[in-house]
Amino acid sequence: MRALSSSKDAQIGQALLAKWREMSPQVRAEATNVMLRGGPDRTRLLLEAVKNGDVQTWQLDPYKPRLFMDRDPAVRDLARALFEQSPAQREQVLKQYQAALNIEGDVARGKEVFKRVCSKCHALDGVGVAVGPKLGTVRNHPTSELLVDIIMPSKSIEQGYETYVVDLASGEILDGVMSAHTPATITLRQEQQRETVISRENIRRMYVSNVSMMPDGLEKQVSIQQMADLLAFLKAAR
Ligand code: HEC
Repeated sequence: MRALSSSKDAQIGQALLAKWREMSPQVRAEATNVMLRGGPDRTRLLLEAVKNGDVQTWQLDPYKPRLFMDRDPAVRDLARALFEQSPAQREQVLKQYQAALNIEGDVARGKEVFKRVCSKCHALDGVGVAVGPKLGTVRNHPTSELLVDIIMPSKSIEQGYETYVVDLASGEILDGVMSAHTPATITLRQEQQRETVISRENIRRMYVSNVSMMPDGLEKQVSIQQMADLLAFLKAAR
C-alpha cells in the first residue's frame, strides 16, 4: 500500500475501493492516505464512495480538517455536506446520550468498544496507540464532562493535540497531530500512528485546525448502552 502512494495511476482509486471492505483498520489507514494523496480525482472518488455509502463516514473523520481545507471547491463542499454538523445538531446528540449517565456500564464490554472505536488514536489499559492525548487520567474528570469531550470533540481541543493542516508546495494537503519537529522537518501523526515526515522547505503554509480529529458522528458506531460501558471503562482503566 505504501508503494502505491507514490503512483498517480488513475486505476488505483477504483481498485482500492473495490477491496475497501476487506481491509484491516491498519491497511485501510494506509489506503486512505493513498486515496488522499493521489490528486483531486482520487480524493473526489473517495468522497463519492462515502456519499454512496460504500465507505462509512466515520472512517474519514481523522481527515476532516484536511478535507475542509482542500484546494478543490468541489471536494470542500462535498466534505462539508458529508461531515459537518452544526453545534445545535451535536447538542441534540449529547442530550440523547446523557441517558448513558444513568445506566450501569460494564467495564469489560466498554474495553471492547474502546478497542473498536477509540484505539486507533488513544492508548489505555494496554490497548491502542497514542495519537490523541493519553486517557490514563480522565477517570478523574466528572463523567458528564467526559461525555461532552466524546460527543462534542471540537468544543474544546486539548492543547498539544491540535490537528495541523499543512499545505505543501506540490499542491498536496496533509493533516495530523504534530509529533517530532526539528529545524528541518516536522512529523505529522495520523490514525493508527501513521507518521509522515515533511521537510520544512516543502511547506507553503501550515495552520492549526479548529476541528478535532475525533469522530463527530460517534452515535453511528456506539449505542447508548455501549456509551455507558465505554464510560465505565474510562473511569476504571489506568
Ligand atoms: C482519529 C483519532 C481519534 C479517535 C478515533 C478518537 N480520538 Fe479522542 N482525541 C483525539 C485527539 C487528536 C484529541 C485531542 C484534540 C481534542 O481534544 O479534540 C482527542 C481528545 C480526547 C479527549 C479529551 C482528552 C482530555 O484530556 O481532555 C477524550 C476524553 C477522548 N479524546 C476520548 C476518546 C474516546 C472515548 C474515543 C472513542 C470513542 C476517542 N477519543 C476516539 C483523537 C481521536
